[in-house]
Amino acid sequence: MDKLVITGGQRLSGEVRISGSKNAALPLLAATLLTADTVRLHNIPQLQDISTMVQLLGQLGADILVNETCSLDVTSGEAVQAFAPYELVRRMRASILVLGPLLARFGEARVSLPGGCAIGSRPVDQHILGLRALGAEVEVESGYVHARVQGRLRGARVLFDMATVGGTENLMMAAALAQGETVLENAAREPEIVDLALLLNGMGARVDGAGSDCIHITGVDRLHGCEHRVVSDRIEAGSYLVAAAMTRGDVVCRDTDPSLLEAVLRKLQEAGAEVSHGVDWVRLQMSARPRAVSFRTQPFPAFPTDMQAQFMAMNCIAEGTGSIIETIFENRYMHVQELNRLGASIVVDGHTAIVHGVDALQSAPVMATDLRASMSLVLAALVAQGETHIHRIYHIDRGYERVEEKLRQLGAQVLRAPA
Ligand code: UD1
Repeated sequence: MDKLVITGGQRLSGEVRISGSKNAALPLLAATLLTADTVRLHNIPQLQDISTMVQLLGQLGADILVNETCSLDVTSGEAVQAFAPYELVRRMRASILVLGPLLARFGEARVSLPGGCAIGSRPVDQHILGLRALGAEVEVESGYVHARVQGRLRGARVLFDMATVGGTENLMMAAALAQGETVLENAAREPEIVDLALLLNGMGARVDGAGSDCIHITGVDRLHGCEHRVVSDRIEAGSYLVAAAMTRGDVVCRDTDPSLLEAVLRKLQEAGAEVSHGVDWVRLQMSARPRAVSFRTQPFPAFPTDMQAQFMAMNCIAEGTGSIIETIFENRYMHVQELNRLGASIVVDGHTAIVHGVDALQSAPVMATDLRASMSLVLAALVAQGETHIHRIYHIDRGYERVEEKLRQLGAQVLRAPA
């Protein structure tokens, strides 16, 4: 198991290329199961979660060809089996995204329950409720979701109890091959949903309204192959911008879409950063100590839960006090204890975290607990006095492509070493 060793105190400056979005690529890979034709996906990031999904598709019987870095051909021919075993699904919650496409195409699917997750209970009841509305019989038995339908799924109105990203994606994929029209209400509006709709429509589906809270899908008899480029990773971009703000740096993120980062950019400006952007780049310049910011996490287009830990790290060394309210996940403050080990002053009361900015952080051995939490520790280490050792770094490899390389390119002192 590797650790990252970071010597704090370097000002970050320069350019960094933002990778394709992990959270977009995972449902896109699952959607390739909807057709026997080849789907070519470009701008796929090289990440542990992507390897897990590719392995799962391979295990289901799909052929995967890596053309060049970042580009994959997936062919889910007739040999595909609609059974996703626990051994692979347990590694990543997003594996549940194969349920909708397998059921829609083969009329039956058995997919292991993804189980709990460090950041909260994260049930899949909304996925199941939606598939039942489309006419599937769904049973949960011995840790597996077993879904069946006589003939084809039938279009229906689905009203989600909450805006669920994965639930909306699973239902969009299932409804694409259903008979008749499906309306998804209270749908999630994240950019990754829009990217999935673009792929599905490229495959011949009829999806309207993605990006709003009401999505209309008119089912078609079959889908075909196509080529698609994965949208850029807004969370990766946001994380490097926070790094620039914390180190009083000057960083340009290339190959990114600033229109997907509005809530994040606004908070960075509130913290005192100067932000400029073009169609596919964002530049952040910071000349002073950041000012503490307050926010609550909300579904898109509001402030994303996946940026909460990084902004908390910034508040740790900011001037003043910031209050953070996490409304999406019930247990997403595990980084608090580790940040406090570095000298931060954070108090948590239920869903609220109060962060009193301190003048400086000091290095200490710390442990990454989940993906975004691990980035908050990296950010804190970049400004801490001394050498910080971050253990269990495999979490960061799930979602940040070549993180130490990119940070080094910007002037950080980061090494990967065996723990
Ligand atoms: C996705 C993202 C994750 C992000 C999250 C919220 C991927 C691979 N992951 O996760 O990075 O943090 O969106 O933006 O895209 N819920 C239920 N029942 C369900 C489904 C969800 O109660 O059936 C709850 C969850 O426990 C959570 C909330 O709804 O509290 C939002 O979850 P959801 O939007 O589904 O998150 P994911 O798709 O798992």
